[in-house]
Amino acid sequence: MRTKRTLLSAATIAVALTAGMTVGLASTASAGTTLKGSAAEKGRYFGAAVATGKLSDSQYVGILNREFNSVVPENEMKWDATEPQQGRFSYTGGDRLVSHAQANGMSVRGHALLWHAQQPGWAQGLSGTTLRNAAINHVTQVATHFRGQIHSWDVVNEAFADGGSGGRRDSNLQRTGNDWIEAAFRAARAADPGAKLCYNDYNTDGVNAKSTGIYNMVRDFKARGVPIDCVGFQSHLGTSVPGDYQANLQRFADLGVDVQITELDVMTGSNQANIYATVTRACLAVSRCNGITVWGVRDSDSWRGTDDALLFDRSGNKKAAYTSVLNALNVGANPPSTPPPGSPVDTSAWYVLVNRNSGKALDVYNLATNDGARITQWSRNNGNQQQWQFVDSGGGYYRLKSRLSGKVLDVYNFSTSDAAAIVQWSDGNGTNQQFRLAESAGGYVRVINRNSGKAVEVQGASTADGANIVQYADWGGNNQQWQLIRIG
Ligand code: XIL
Repeated sequence: MRTKRTLLSAATIAVALTAGMTVGLASTASAGTTLKGSAAEKGRYFGAAVATGKLSDSQYVGILNREFNSVVPENEMKWDATEPQQGRFSYTGGDRLVSHAQANGMSVRGHALLWHAQQPGWAQGLSGTTLRNAAINHVTQVATHFRGQIHSWDVVNEAFADGGSGGRRDSNLQRTGNDWIEAAFRAARAADPGAKLCYNDYNTDGVNAKSTGIYNMVRDFKARGVPIDCVGFQSHLGTSVPGDYQANLQRFADLGVDVQITELDVMTGSNQANIYATVTRACLAVSRCNGITVWGVRDSDSWRGTDDALLFDRSGNKKAAYTSVLNALNVGANPPSTPPPGSPVDTSAWYVLVNRNSGKALDVYNLATNDGARITQWSRNNGNQQQWQFVDSGGGYYRLKSRLSGKVLDVYNFSTSDAAAIVQWSDGNGTNQQFRLAESAGGYVRVINRNSGKAVEVQGASTADGANIVQYADWGGNNQQWQLIRIG
């Protein structure tokens, strides 16, 4: 049983060490050299649509796990897949992808709860109130099943018409009444309050009648309190990209929603790499752009047949488009360096370390004071077991000393393995007890062990109290990023 914790008084002043904090960025395993590492340096994810049947293809999985830290099922969470017969739900493919993601530190986009296409036959045959009720039940059931596991849901996909009308697409769902979209968003919010809820569409890549129709809907939803958090821009592109691509993203962000590039693929040709870079730069330039998902891994995996629209060729080699995306992600990155002399942290202060992914604090589990006690995350309470002092070891390395126990963070038994436990141990100034800080975007740092070169992370990107803190290869995931909050 975990003992009750004492809360410090509300008078405790928390000072986030964000502005003005300078931390030397040392070279990391994947930052600058993989899509996910470089995107993470900029506080973004980089994802791919996955066909779960290909998870047994070792080349495919090799690229996926090396380059991407977000996945979306290409088909497995669609209505025809998840509810093939009315009221009989099937989650095999979706569950499989979620498991793969969780085992590999990836977040999951959910796609798509309601769409006019890929409906099961039984739903295609319904109309009116019967269809509306079935659709809302579908949203509730599926979002409930995946509750807590989805970063962002495409709640409604492709509900606007192409062309100049700016209006809704005719569909069986639309014919149940214009309020079907907001009903879906409300049902999704109730079922999974932790997921961002997105509207997703294509041919919305610049300011045009269709994107403006969606813009007006989002503005109306925000004004009336309909729960919407994000807009997805599929970005299935040809041989050009509108000049106002970034401005279009920005106008949506200015409504108070996040934006995401959700299904990016680009027609092969001399402009392909350039278009990929343009889209990447646009996302980086819009602070509310959370990340980019490409619609497949290799050209041979693409739904676009012979368009060769992706970042890896049919043999799994990186294409010029890959390099241009990586370079765009790396622009402005700090060059690798040793932390400069002159401490970036105040060694006389006490800090709480809050994880970027979970919002929870680094914590000596159960107020232990013994050697070998495990370190976990716990809801932040600023207790002594959550306060850490940086003790200078020289060369830009520090021990992290617990205020509660006086012991220091320690990679158990000098392990250099992924998933090795981080414990507390008497301070012997061993290299397994020394850590440097590597800068991530937004005032977050990664905490890198001197002996192993691995990062301190919340295992499995858990958000639960009591989740273990371990070391893992530094790939810049949110579960490897910490905010240092000075509290004493
Ligand atoms: C596509 C898949 O890639 C194909 O495998 C499937 O046969 C049809 O759907 N917009 C979307 C995606 O939102 O769900 C579509 O995916 C591509 C267009």
